[in-house]
Amino acid sequence: MEPIQDRGMLMLLVIGASGNVGREVTRLLAESGEQVRVLTRNPGSAAVPAGVEVVRGDLADSESLESAMKGADGAYSLMRPDPDATRNLAAAAASQGLERIVLLTSLAAEAADTPLGLQHREAEQAVEATGLTWAFLRPTNFASNSLAWAQSIRTEGAVRAPFGTFKSAVIDPRDIAAVAVAELRSPDQANRVHRLTGPQVLGLTDQIAIIGEVLGRDITYVEQSEREAHEELLARGVPAPVAESILAGQRGALTQEQHVYDTVQQATGRPAAPYRDWVTANRAAFAS
Ligand SMILES: NC(=O)c1ccc[n+]([C@@H]2O[C@H](COP(=O)([O-])OP(=O)(O)OC[C@H]3O[C@@H](n4cnc5c(N)ncnc54)[C@H](OP(=O)(O)O)[C@@H]3O)[C@@H](O)[C@H]2O)c1
Repeated sequence: MEPIQDRGMLMLLVIGASGNVGREVTRLLAESGEQVRVLTRNPGSAAVPAGVEVVRGDLADSESLESAMKGADGAYSLMRPDPDATRNLAAAAASQGLERIVLLTSLAAEAADTPLGLQHREAEQAVEATGLTWAFLRPTNFASNSLAWAQSIRTEGAVRAPFGTFKSAVIDPRDIAAVAVAELRSPDQANRVHRLTGPQVLGLTDQIAIIGEVLGRDITYVEQSEREAHEELLARGVPAPVAESILAGQRGALTQEQHVYDTVQQATGRPAAPYRDWVTANRAAFAS
């Protein structure tokens, strides 16, 4: 996909700009010289690159979405579990005639018989119904999920997590962002679904071993019960139905074959980064 060469600067809206992916989408777009506006519920605490416009808004508030999309060519958004959020997003994008909408969903959307899968697929369907050009980013597990282990690694040299045999082709959020940016700047009018993975299928214990290698210390894996994991997610502020969906997704993945796709390479021209690169870039979070 070639970046747009023969048209002027684009105006692009980022929703979820403080998230793992959105933060990087914002940075890459700002570096590419496009005009960037971010929508946030908390403009006072938004940390964005110079030149990026910040507006107050909420996926729960249709008017704020319409106003943030005025004059925009395209928008990136993550989906929220609330079905109204994506319906609002889709309706606002249609009313403002956006040329392109890039929605972060999940590979879970392909397992629409699970609550998490259904939520993601329904969000995609709301965007499909607009008739606008769309791209869906369906990633596997984010490398940044490992930050949940940072405190226990720092203080005890241990990781407590359920499903020790859980495997996934964990992806660096920076790669998801790079695909989002390629899509936002794409000159064509094709709808696309991107299945996004990292370059290797890794088990939990492989990931923990890589963190240990980067830190130069041994890290112990302690298998947690599902109940303990559920309580910990609630303690981190994850709503109960979402916590249940996450654990059900991981339980289901134990018996599913995990694939590696070369979509990052196809969309950006460079291969997906290995997990080790993400750990190295985020070493300070794990170091005591
Ligand atoms: N983690 C994984 O392994 C994984 C795997 C596959 C797919 N996903 C998808 O990735 C998403 C998370 O992406 P992420 O990690 O980049 O984000 P994140 O770190 O979870 O950040 C949340 C972002 O959402 C924004 N936000 C939350 N509620 C909002 C609302 N009502 N209106 C407007 N903005 C709102 C926040 O913006 P403000 O606070 O600035 O308003 C913040 O920027 C998940 O929801 C899931 O769909 C995740």
